[in-house]
Amino acid sequence: MTDVGRHPRIKLYTLSEVVDVKGYVGNFQVKILKKARYVSEKECTACGECSKVCPVVRPDEFNLGLSSRKAIYSPFPQAVPSAYVINANECLGHNPVVCAKCVEVCDKGCINFHMSDEEAVEHVGSIVVATGMEPYDPTEMDEYGYTRFENVLTSLELERLVNAGGPTRGELIRPTDRKRPRSIGFVQCVGSRSARKGSEYCSNVCCMNTVKSTLVLKEHYPDMDVKVFYIDIRAFGKGFEDLYKRSRRLGVHYVRGLPGTVEENPDRSLRVAVENGATGTIEYYVLDMMVLAIGVQPSTHTQKLQEMLGLQLNPDGFFLEAHPKLQPVDAATRGIFFAGCAEGPKDIKESVTQASAAAARAIRLMHRGEILTEPITSEVMVEHCKSCGKCADVCPYHAITVDVKKKKPAMVNTAACAGCGTCAAECPFGAITMNHFTDVQILHQVDALLEEDPQEKILTFACNWCSYAGADYAGVSRLQYSPNVRLIRTMCSGRVDEEFIWHGFAKGAPVILVSGCHIGDCHYINANHWTVKRVEKVHRKMKKLGIRPERLQLEWISAAEGIRFARTMERMERLRRGVTAEEIEKTKAILSQGK
Ligand code: FES
Repeated sequence: MTDVGRHPRIKLYTLSEVVDVKGYVGNFQVKILKKARYVSEKECTACGECSKVCPVVRPDEFNLGLSSRKAIYSPFPQAVPSAYVINANECLGHNPVVCAKCVEVCDKGCINFHMSDEEAVEHVGSIVVATGMEPYDPTEMDEYGYTRFENVLTSLELERLVNAGGPTRGELIRPTDRKRPRSIGFVQCVGSRSARKGSEYCSNVCCMNTVKSTLVLKEHYPDMDVKVFYIDIRAFGKGFEDLYKRSRRLGVHYVRGLPGTVEENPDRSLRVAVENGATGTIEYYVLDMMVLAIGVQPSTHTQKLQEMLGLQLNPDGFFLEAHPKLQPVDAATRGIFFAGCAEGPKDIKESVTQASAAAARAIRLMHRGEILTEPITSEVMVEHCKSCGKCADVCPYHAITVDVKKKKPAMVNTAACAGCGTCAAECPFGAITMNHFTDVQILHQVDALLEEDPQEKILTFACNWCSYAGADYAGVSRLQYSPNVRLIRTMCSGRVDEEFIWHGFAKGAPVILVSGCHIGDCHYINANHWTVKRVEKVHRKMKKLGIRPERLQLEWISAAEGIRFARTMERMERLRRGVTAEEIEKTKAILSQGK
């Protein structure tokens, strides 16, 4: 942090918030709200005299309320910049002026109550989202007594207690009597891997954090009785298994099972009942202190930032990467990258690796001074465009501008266009073509695939990122499914034009499947929402025309769901067998008269 603060080519905004982001790769405009510090950053030497005279005492957030701070304070010892800050909501002198003691003692005149928030706009070529995470709040887990018993702490609170710079200068004390605990128990997976409370995913860091804490405790207090209650210990990183074994060697007692009940004894110790999964018995332990290994949750501002940057979140609420294996630090929107827990729970090493990768990706993109775009972008045929604005409405990247009032044709910003093809599929006038996935190319593929025995074929549109990869996975897994499946790859299911479906039926397809990424996983933000709407629209038309809507299916298949792909194809095959030759001929006749 200090290095970043000193670096001549890094501009650091502290106490600031991003309030708006506009633009596209190579040309983002970021609006920043810099909050008033009320202390001059340049002049303050962090001498601390102001803090000494401040009469307002508040819990110190950095020490999780285990110590106090004043209304004028330094957030933490190595804070950058090294200047104090006033919390205007707490300060008595700010409004109305009743105190101002800090002003009196500051001989450098750093304090200025008239400072106001400022707005700044930065023009940047790429953005790295590194907004971190929030620790799980265990107050809802009443069974562990976090809100009822003072001697139940979180792993973060323990961290502050054993830290040399913490509220007790590194001395571990029991909160109720301020004496050193003789026994301590760690409860794993608090707020993680639970369908009931917290989150269902593994938070990745809690096991090793506990192992580290047990080592610290055993090194400082060899006689301390340390227990760990766990489901399973996930020590999968380099050297982690050794640390775990060392912890066991030092006498830490690992009990396979999470506490069922926690009660407080009259002497404020805790009575913990655990069903030991290894022995199958209920065991009771009396502990001086208990530590909840709390999980990791998405940062509270994730949703706001996601809307601002037009990004996608995964079902757990973390930012979704463009591709989990091939582009793990890239967002689906070009020029935006992820680092650290913004993308998912990870430890320091992984965060540093990802941050380095994100920085390298951003540099690689920017260093030439010009951007090379993928040729898979949409293009407007101005002579057909009626300026209806539909394309601009559906574009997840806001890459299309149309002046509807002045009737100016649509314009595509190819740097911002990611190539999903939704605009081309939605344009009612066929005025947009999707390079490399043009209507003509796809319709020719339909013709070719249904040229011979179309009644035998299962015509499937699969999106590049999920369903097509799912098909691939089914193949490499040697899963058996109907051999008459014929795939047409599009970049996104959003590209599947209504016209492709009608053309397929007109050519004699008994059934057609449109498949893509699960809702929320589309690699073009939310383009597959338009797929759903379009398929529903076609279903309504089919009904009206007397064509069985079941003959058009929509299925979400991810890249990891080879089995789902194979099963879907088996289902499609059963569906196909139920479509009679008369039905196909009747459909062809209906469609030959126009829709
Ligand atoms: Fe798969 Fe959009 S990328 S549905």
